[in-house]
Amino acid sequence: MSSDLNPEDRPAANTAVVRDALRRPLHDLRISVLDQCNFRCPYCMPEDEFHADYEFLNRQQRLSYEEILRIAQVAARLGVSKLRLTGGEPLLDKRIPDLVAGLAAIPGIDDLALTTNAMLLAPMARKLADAGLHRVTISLDSLDEDVFRRMSGGRGDLSQVLDGVAAAQRAGLSPIKINVVVQRGVNDHTVLELLEHFRGTGHIVRLIEFMDVGNRNGWRLDQVVPSRQLLEQVRERWPLRRIDQNYPGEVARRYEYVDGAGEIGFISSVTEPFCGDCSRARLSADGMLYTCLFANQGTDLRESLRNDADDEELADILSQIWLQRADRYSELRRPELAEAHVLRKVEMYRIGG
Ligand code: GTP
Ligand code: 5AD
Ligand code: SF4
Ligand code: SF4
Repeated sequence: MSSDLNPEDRPAANTAVVRDALRRPLHDLRISVLDQCNFRCPYCMPEDEFHADYEFLNRQQRLSYEEILRIAQVAARLGVSKLRLTGGEPLLDKRIPDLVAGLAAIPGIDDLALTTNAMLLAPMARKLADAGLHRVTISLDSLDEDVFRRMSGGRGDLSQVLDGVAAAQRAGLSPIKINVVVQRGVNDHTVLELLEHFRGTGHIVRLIEFMDVGNRNGWRLDQVVPSRQLLEQVRERWPLRRIDQNYPGEVARRYEYVDGAGEIGFISSVTEPFCGDCSRARLSADGMLYTCLFANQGTDLRESLRNDADDEELADILSQIWLQRADRYSELRRPELAEAHVLRKVEMYRIGG
Protein backbone atom coordinates (compact mmCIF):
# COMPACT_ATOMS: atom_id res chain seq x y z
CA MET A 1 0.00 0.00 0.00
CA SER A 2 1.49 3.35 -0.91
CA SER A 3 1.27 5.68 2.05
CA ASP A 4 3.57 8.04 3.86
CA LEU A 5 4.53 5.50 6.47
CA ASN A 6 6.08 6.72 9.63
CA PRO A 7 6.83 3.93 12.12
CA GLU A 8 6.14 5.94 15.25
CA ASP A 9 2.73 6.94 13.84
CA ARG A 10 1.46 3.39 13.72
CA PRO A 11 -1.41 3.23 16.18
CA ALA A 12 -1.99 -0.51 16.06
CA ALA A 13 -1.16 -3.60 14.10
CA ASN A 14 -2.54 -3.57 10.60
CA THR A 15 -2.94 0.19 10.48
CA ALA A 16 -0.71 2.92 9.15
CA VAL A 17 -1.25 6.62 9.55
CA VAL A 18 -1.20 8.50 6.29
CA ARG A 19 -0.19 12.17 6.24
CA ASP A 20 -1.06 14.81 3.66
CA ALA A 21 1.24 17.23 1.83
CA LEU A 22 1.20 19.53 4.89
CA ARG A 23 1.98 16.59 7.25
CA ARG A 24 -1.54 16.44 8.65
CA PRO A 25 -2.83 12.97 9.57
CA LEU A 26 -6.28 11.66 8.64
CA HIS A 27 -8.21 11.28 11.90
CA ASP A 28 -11.76 12.23 11.25
CA LEU A 29 -14.25 11.03 8.63
CA ARG A 30 -17.54 12.89 8.31
CA ILE A 31 -20.21 10.90 6.55
CA SER A 32 -23.25 12.55 5.00
CA VAL A 33 -25.93 9.88 4.80
CA LEU A 34 -28.47 11.85 2.80
CA ASP A 35 -28.75 15.28 1.24
CA GLN A 36 -32.34 15.96 2.32
CA CYS A 37 -33.36 18.02 5.30
CA ASN A 38 -36.63 18.85 7.05
CA PHE A 39 -35.34 22.41 7.67
CA ARG A 40 -34.56 25.15 5.20
CA CYS A 41 -32.02 27.21 7.13
CA PRO A 42 -31.40 30.22 4.85
CA TYR A 43 -27.64 29.98 5.41
CA CYS A 44 -27.57 26.38 4.23
CA MET A 45 -30.60 25.37 2.11
CA PRO A 46 -32.50 28.54 1.20
CA GLU A 47 -36.15 27.71 0.41
CA ASP A 48 -36.21 29.45 -2.97
CA GLU A 49 -33.40 27.17 -4.21
CA PHE A 50 -34.46 23.99 -2.40
CA HIS A 51 -38.14 24.09 -3.34
CA ALA A 52 -40.70 21.32 -3.72
CA ASP A 53 -39.37 20.34 -7.18
CA TYR A 54 -35.75 20.20 -6.16
CA GLU A 55 -34.29 16.80 -7.05
CA PHE A 56 -32.41 15.26 -4.18
CA LEU A 57 -30.36 12.10 -4.58
CA ASN A 58 -32.40 8.95 -4.99
CA ARG A 59 -31.71 5.70 -3.18
CA GLN A 60 -29.71 4.24 -6.06
CA GLN A 61 -27.50 7.32 -6.22
CA ARG A 62 -26.83 7.25 -2.49
CA LEU A 63 -24.29 4.92 -0.98
CA SER A 64 -25.81 1.87 0.69
CA TYR A 65 -24.95 1.14 4.32
CA GLU A 66 -22.67 -1.68 3.17
CA GLU A 67 -20.79 0.77 0.95
CA ILE A 68 -20.47 3.34 3.75
CA LEU A 69 -19.23 0.67 6.13
CA ARG A 70 -16.57 -0.49 3.71
CA ILE A 71 -15.21 3.02 3.29
CA ALA A 72 -15.26 3.62 7.05
CA GLN A 73 -13.43 0.34 7.67
CA VAL A 74 -10.73 1.22 5.18
CA ALA A 75 -10.46 4.75 6.60
CA ALA A 76 -10.03 3.30 10.09
CA ARG A 77 -7.08 1.25 8.84
CA LEU A 78 -5.50 4.49 7.61
CA GLY A 79 -5.78 6.17 11.00
CA VAL A 80 -9.36 7.45 11.26
CA SER A 81 -10.57 7.08 14.85
CA LYS A 82 -13.45 9.54 14.78
CA LEU A 83 -16.62 9.31 12.72
CA ARG A 84 -19.44 11.82 12.44
CA LEU A 85 -22.75 11.13 10.71
CA THR A 86 -24.33 14.20 9.14
CA GLY A 87 -26.72 15.11 6.36
CA GLY A 88 -28.70 17.05 5.41
CA GLU A 89 -30.61 15.66 8.32
CA PRO A 90 -29.48 12.11 9.07
CA LEU A 91 -32.51 11.26 11.22
CA LEU A 92 -34.79 11.45 8.18
CA ASP A 93 -33.40 7.99 7.52
CA LYS A 94 -35.27 5.81 9.99
CA ARG A 95 -32.85 2.90 9.61
CA ILE A 96 -29.92 4.97 10.81
CA PRO A 97 -29.46 2.96 14.06
CA ASP A 98 -28.48 -0.01 11.85
CA LEU A 99 -25.72 2.05 10.28
CA VAL A 100 -24.62 3.28 13.70
CA ALA A 101 -24.36 -0.31 14.92
CA GLY A 102 -22.14 -1.24 11.97
CA LEU A 103 -19.88 1.77 12.43
CA ALA A 104 -19.62 1.28 16.19
CA ALA A 105 -18.24 -2.22 15.62
CA ILE A 106 -15.29 -1.04 13.53
CA PRO A 107 -12.02 -1.56 15.42
CA GLY A 108 -10.20 1.67 16.19
CA ILE A 109 -13.24 3.97 16.23
CA ASP A 110 -13.23 5.70 19.60
CA ASP A 111 -15.59 8.58 18.85
CA LEU A 112 -18.86 8.13 16.98
CA ALA A 113 -21.03 11.26 16.82
CA LEU A 114 -24.05 12.49 14.89
CA THR A 115 -25.07 16.02 13.92
CA THR A 116 -28.81 16.71 13.86
CA ASN A 117 -31.31 19.54 14.06
CA ALA A 118 -33.03 17.37 16.71
CA MET A 119 -36.58 17.68 15.32
CA LEU A 120 -36.80 13.89 15.07
CA LEU A 121 -34.42 13.07 17.89
CA ALA A 122 -36.76 12.49 20.85
CA PRO A 123 -38.21 9.18 19.61
CA MET A 124 -34.85 7.98 18.27
CA ALA A 125 -32.33 8.92 20.96
CA ARG A 126 -32.57 5.68 22.92
CA LYS A 127 -32.32 3.49 19.80
CA LEU A 128 -29.26 5.43 18.65
CA ALA A 129 -27.56 5.04 22.03
CA ASP A 130 -28.39 1.34 22.15
CA ALA A 131 -26.90 0.93 18.68
CA GLY A 132 -23.61 2.34 19.93
CA LEU A 133 -23.75 6.07 19.15
CA HIS A 134 -21.56 7.96 21.63
CA ARG A 135 -22.91 11.50 21.38
CA VAL A 136 -24.94 14.01 19.42
CA THR A 137 -24.28 17.56 18.29
CA ILE A 138 -27.43 19.60 17.91
CA SER A 139 -27.78 22.57 15.56
CA LEU A 140 -29.90 25.15 17.36
CA ASP A 141 -29.47 28.78 16.43
CA SER A 142 -31.80 30.56 18.83
CA LEU A 143 -34.28 30.04 21.66
CA ASP A 144 -36.34 32.99 20.52
CA GLU A 145 -39.39 31.42 18.84
CA ASP A 146 -39.50 33.90 15.95
CA VAL A 147 -35.78 33.90 15.29
CA PHE A 148 -35.68 30.11 15.49
CA ARG A 149 -38.53 29.74 13.02
CA ARG A 150 -36.91 32.13 10.59
CA MET A 151 -33.53 30.42 10.87
CA SER A 152 -35.03 26.99 10.24
CA GLY A 153 -36.81 28.28 7.15
CA GLY A 154 -40.20 28.18 8.87
CA ARG A 155 -39.95 24.43 9.46
CA GLY A 156 -38.67 24.03 12.99
CA ASP A 157 -40.63 23.51 16.19
CA LEU A 158 -38.59 24.72 19.14
CA SER A 159 -40.30 22.63 21.81
CA GLN A 160 -39.81 19.47 19.74
CA VAL A 161 -36.11 20.29 19.41
CA LEU A 162 -35.79 20.86 23.15
CA ASP A 163 -37.54 17.52 23.73
CA GLY A 164 -34.87 16.02 21.50
CA VAL A 165 -32.12 17.57 23.62
CA ALA A 166 -33.71 16.18 26.80
CA ALA A 167 -34.14 12.72 25.28
CA ALA A 168 -30.50 12.69 24.17
CA GLN A 169 -29.47 13.54 27.71
CA ARG A 170 -31.59 10.75 29.18
CA ALA A 171 -30.11 8.31 26.68
CA GLY A 172 -26.57 9.33 27.68
CA LEU A 173 -25.61 10.74 24.28
CA SER A 174 -23.29 13.19 25.95
CA PRO A 175 -21.53 15.49 26.14
CA ILE A 176 -24.21 17.14 24.05
CA LYS A 177 -22.92 20.00 21.96
CA ILE A 178 -25.22 22.77 20.77
CA ASN A 179 -24.01 24.40 17.53
CA VAL A 180 -25.12 27.99 17.04
CA VAL A 181 -24.37 29.70 13.74
CA VAL A 182 -24.26 33.40 14.59
CA GLN A 183 -25.37 35.88 11.93
CA ARG A 184 -25.24 39.60 12.52
CA GLY A 185 -28.69 41.15 12.61
CA VAL A 186 -30.37 37.74 12.55
CA ASN A 187 -29.70 35.95 15.86
CA ASP A 188 -26.72 37.69 17.47
CA HIS A 189 -29.03 39.50 19.90
CA THR A 190 -30.32 36.15 21.22
CA VAL A 191 -26.98 34.50 21.98
CA LEU A 192 -26.75 35.47 25.66
CA GLU A 193 -30.26 34.18 26.33
CA LEU A 194 -29.31 30.86 24.76
CA LEU A 195 -26.11 30.64 26.83
CA GLU A 196 -28.07 31.42 29.97
CA HIS A 197 -30.47 28.57 29.20
CA PHE A 198 -27.75 25.96 28.78
CA ARG A 199 -25.40 27.12 31.55
CA GLY A 200 -25.14 24.47 34.21
CA THR A 201 -26.76 21.73 32.13
CA GLY A 202 -23.50 20.05 31.09
CA HIS A 203 -24.27 20.77 27.42
CA ILE A 204 -21.56 22.63 25.53
CA VAL A 205 -22.72 25.56 23.42
CA ARG A 206 -20.45 26.42 20.50
CA LEU A 207 -20.80 29.78 18.79
CA ILE A 208 -19.90 29.46 15.12
CA GLU A 209 -18.91 32.21 12.73
CA PHE A 210 -21.17 32.23 9.68
CA MET A 211 -19.08 30.73 6.87
CA ASP A 212 -19.01 31.12 3.10
CA VAL A 213 -19.67 27.46 2.40
CA GLY A 214 -21.14 26.65 -1.00
CA ASN A 215 -22.42 29.28 -3.42
CA ARG A 216 -26.03 29.67 -2.44
CA ASN A 217 -26.13 31.15 1.04
CA GLY A 218 -25.48 34.76 0.05
CA TRP A 219 -22.57 35.02 2.48
CA ARG A 220 -21.33 38.51 3.28
CA LEU A 221 -18.45 39.39 5.55
CA ASP A 222 -20.53 42.00 7.37
CA GLN A 223 -22.88 39.23 8.55
CA VAL A 224 -20.04 37.50 10.38
CA VAL A 225 -19.78 38.35 14.05
CA PRO A 226 -16.10 37.83 14.88
CA SER A 227 -15.66 35.43 17.79
CA ARG A 228 -13.44 37.97 19.54
CA GLN A 229 -16.38 40.36 19.70
CA LEU A 230 -18.79 37.70 20.97
CA LEU A 231 -16.26 36.56 23.54
CA GLU A 232 -16.09 40.10 24.92
CA GLN A 233 -19.88 40.27 25.16
CA VAL A 234 -20.09 36.94 26.95
CA ARG A 235 -17.26 37.90 29.31
CA GLU A 236 -19.03 41.07 30.34
CA ARG A 237 -21.85 38.90 31.65
CA TRP A 238 -19.96 35.85 32.94
CA PRO A 239 -16.18 35.67 33.53
CA LEU A 240 -14.57 32.97 31.38
CA ARG A 241 -11.30 31.11 31.49
CA ARG A 242 -9.57 29.54 28.47
CA ILE A 243 -9.12 25.75 28.65
CA ASP A 244 -6.88 23.40 26.69
CA GLN A 245 -8.02 21.65 23.56
CA ASN A 246 -9.27 18.08 23.89
CA TYR A 247 -7.31 16.82 20.91
CA PRO A 248 -5.05 18.24 18.19
CA GLY A 249 -7.10 19.77 15.41
CA GLU A 250 -10.17 20.53 17.53
CA VAL A 251 -12.10 23.25 15.71
CA ALA A 252 -13.54 24.94 18.80
CA ARG A 253 -11.59 27.20 21.11
CA ARG A 254 -12.71 26.11 24.55
CA TYR A 255 -13.61 28.25 27.54
CA GLU A 256 -15.23 27.53 30.87
CA TYR A 257 -17.35 29.71 33.09
CA VAL A 258 -15.28 30.74 36.09
CA ASP A 259 -18.33 30.15 38.32
CA GLY A 260 -18.34 26.46 37.40
CA ALA A 261 -21.39 26.52 35.09
CA GLY A 262 -19.62 24.53 32.38
CA GLU A 263 -17.96 24.94 29.02
CA ILE A 264 -18.57 27.01 25.91
CA GLY A 265 -16.68 27.07 22.60
CA PHE A 266 -15.99 29.42 19.72
CA ILE A 267 -15.53 28.21 16.16
CA SER A 268 -13.85 30.97 14.20
CA SER A 269 -13.14 29.66 10.74
CA VAL A 270 -13.40 33.15 9.21
CA THR A 271 -11.38 35.32 11.61
CA GLU A 272 -9.01 32.70 13.05
CA PRO A 273 -8.72 29.80 10.61
CA PHE A 274 -7.61 26.42 11.88
CA CYS A 275 -6.44 24.66 8.72
CA GLY A 276 -3.00 24.03 10.24
CA ASP A 277 -4.03 20.78 11.86
CA CYS A 278 -7.19 19.94 9.95
CA SER A 279 -7.46 16.19 9.82
CA ARG A 280 -10.98 15.83 8.39
CA ALA A 281 -12.18 14.09 5.25
CA ARG A 282 -15.80 14.28 4.12
CA LEU A 283 -17.86 11.68 2.33
CA SER A 284 -21.00 12.84 0.55
CA ALA A 285 -24.17 10.77 0.32
CA ASP A 286 -23.37 9.89 -3.29
CA GLY A 287 -19.89 8.69 -2.42
CA MET A 288 -17.69 11.66 -3.29
CA LEU A 289 -14.73 12.10 -0.98
CA TYR A 290 -13.80 15.72 -0.27
CA THR A 291 -10.69 16.79 1.58
CA CYS A 292 -11.97 20.27 2.50
CA LEU A 293 -15.30 21.79 3.45
CA PHE A 294 -14.75 24.34 0.71
CA ALA A 295 -13.62 21.92 -1.96
CA ASN A 296 -14.68 22.37 -5.55
CA GLN A 297 -13.90 18.82 -6.51
CA GLY A 298 -13.84 15.42 -4.91
CA THR A 299 -13.12 11.81 -5.79
CA ASP A 300 -15.88 9.42 -6.77
CA LEU A 301 -15.56 6.42 -4.45
CA ARG A 302 -18.99 5.08 -5.41
CA GLU A 303 -17.73 4.24 -8.88
CA SER A 304 -14.80 2.31 -7.44
CA LEU A 305 -17.06 0.49 -4.98
CA ARG A 306 -19.53 -0.46 -7.69
CA ASN A 307 -16.71 -1.60 -9.95
CA ASP A 308 -15.77 -4.15 -7.31
CA ALA A 309 -12.63 -2.50 -5.94
CA ASP A 310 -11.31 -4.63 -3.08
CA ASP A 311 -10.25 -3.20 0.29
CA GLU A 312 -6.60 -2.92 -0.76
CA GLU A 313 -7.56 -0.90 -3.81
CA LEU A 314 -9.85 1.32 -1.75
CA ALA A 315 -7.11 1.88 0.81
CA ASP A 316 -4.75 2.79 -1.98
CA ILE A 317 -7.21 5.27 -3.48
CA LEU A 318 -7.85 6.89 -0.09
CA SER A 319 -4.20 7.18 0.83
CA GLN A 320 -3.33 8.64 -2.58
CA ILE A 321 -6.04 11.27 -2.15
CA TRP A 322 -4.82 12.13 1.33
CA LEU A 323 -1.11 12.18 0.37
CA GLN A 324 -1.82 14.81 -2.28
CA ARG A 325 -4.01 16.95 -0.07
CA ALA A 326 -2.84 20.54 0.43
CA ASP A 327 -6.18 22.26 1.23
CA ARG A 328 -6.22 25.27 3.52
CA TYR A 329 -9.09 27.30 2.17
CA SER A 330 -9.87 29.29 5.30
CA GLU A 331 -6.30 30.47 5.63
CA LEU A 332 -6.30 31.64 2.02
CA ARG A 333 -9.86 33.00 1.96
CA ARG A 334 -10.30 36.33 0.18
CA PRO A 335 -13.56 37.76 1.48
CA GLU A 336 -14.16 39.86 -1.65
CA LEU A 337 -14.02 36.72 -3.81
CA ALA A 338 -16.22 34.80 -1.36
CA GLU A 339 -18.80 37.62 -1.42
CA ALA A 340 -18.85 37.58 -5.22
CA HIS A 341 -19.72 33.83 -5.11
CA VAL A 342 -17.57 33.15 -8.14
CA LEU A 343 -15.66 30.17 -6.73
CA ARG A 344 -17.36 26.85 -7.30
CA LYS A 345 -17.67 25.03 -3.96
CA VAL A 346 -19.56 22.00 -2.78
CA GLU A 347 -22.76 22.87 -0.89
CA MET A 348 -22.90 22.39 2.90
CA TYR A 349 -26.02 20.21 2.85
CA ARG A 350 -24.18 17.75 0.57
CA ILE A 351 -21.24 17.23 2.91
CA GLY A 352 -22.81 18.10 6.21
CA GLY A 353 -20.29 20.61 7.48
P1 GTP B 1 -16.23 17.91 17.97
O1 GTP B 1 -15.86 16.61 17.41
O2 GTP B 1 -17.36 17.80 18.91
O3 GTP B 1 -15.07 18.65 18.51
O4 GTP B 1 -16.82 18.81 16.81
P2 GTP B 1 -16.47 18.85 15.30
O5 GTP B 1 -15.09 19.27 15.11
O6 GTP B 1 -16.82 17.59 14.62
O7 GTP B 1 -17.41 20.04 14.83
P3 GTP B 1 -18.88 20.04 14.22
O8 GTP B 1 -19.06 18.97 13.25
O9 GTP B 1 -19.87 20.14 15.31
O10 GTP B 1 -18.82 21.42 13.46
C1 GTP B 1 -19.02 22.63 14.09
C2 GTP B 1 -18.86 23.77 13.10
O11 GTP B 1 -17.52 23.84 12.70
C3 GTP B 1 -19.72 23.59 11.85
O12 GTP B 1 -20.21 24.83 11.41
C4 GTP B 1 -18.75 23.06 10.88
O13 GTP B 1 -19.09 23.35 9.58
C5 GTP B 1 -17.46 23.75 11.30
N1 GTP B 1 -16.35 22.92 10.94
C6 GTP B 1 -16.16 21.63 11.29
N2 GTP B 1 -15.07 21.17 10.71
C7 GTP B 1 -14.56 22.18 9.98
C8 GTP B 1 -13.46 22.32 9.12
O14 GTP B 1 -12.70 21.39 8.91
N3 GTP B 1 -13.26 23.52 8.52
C9 GTP B 1 -14.07 24.56 8.73
N4 GTP B 1 -13.77 25.69 8.11
N5 GTP B 1 -15.14 24.46 9.51
C10 GTP B 1 -15.38 23.30 10.12
N1 5AD C 1 -21.61 28.61 8.43
C1 5AD C 1 -21.33 28.04 9.62
N2 5AD C 1 -21.89 26.89 10.05
C2 5AD C 1 -22.80 26.33 9.24
N3 5AD C 1 -23.54 25.23 9.40
C3 5AD C 1 -24.31 25.05 8.29
N4 5AD C 1 -24.08 26.06 7.42
C4 5AD C 1 -23.15 26.87 8.00
C5 5AD C 1 -22.50 28.07 7.60
N5 5AD C 1 -22.76 28.65 6.44
C6 5AD C 1 -23.50 24.41 10.60
C7 5AD C 1 -24.83 23.83 11.01
C8 5AD C 1 -24.42 22.61 11.78
C9 5AD C 1 -23.02 22.32 11.35
C10 5AD C 1 -22.83 20.96 10.84
O1 5AD C 1 -22.70 23.28 10.39
O2 5AD C 1 -25.57 24.68 11.79
O3 5AD C 1 -24.43 22.84 13.17
FE1 SF4 D 1 -30.70 21.24 7.53
FE2 SF4 D 1 -28.59 21.57 9.11
FE3 SF4 D 1 -28.65 22.70 6.67
FE4 SF4 D 1 -30.25 23.61 8.55
S1 SF4 D 1 -27.99 23.66 8.58
S2 SF4 D 1 -30.84 23.18 6.42
S3 SF4 D 1 -30.75 21.78 9.70
S4 SF4 D 1 -28.60 20.51 7.10
FE1 SF4 E 1 -9.88 21.96 6.90
FE2 SF4 E 1 -10.61 23.14 4.64
FE3 SF4 E 1 -11.72 23.82 6.97
FE4 SF4 E 1 -9.19 24.49 6.44
S1 SF4 E 1 -11.01 25.23 5.36
S2 SF4 E 1 -9.98 23.66 8.35
S3 SF4 E 1 -8.54 22.69 5.27
S4 SF4 E 1 -11.88 21.84 5.93
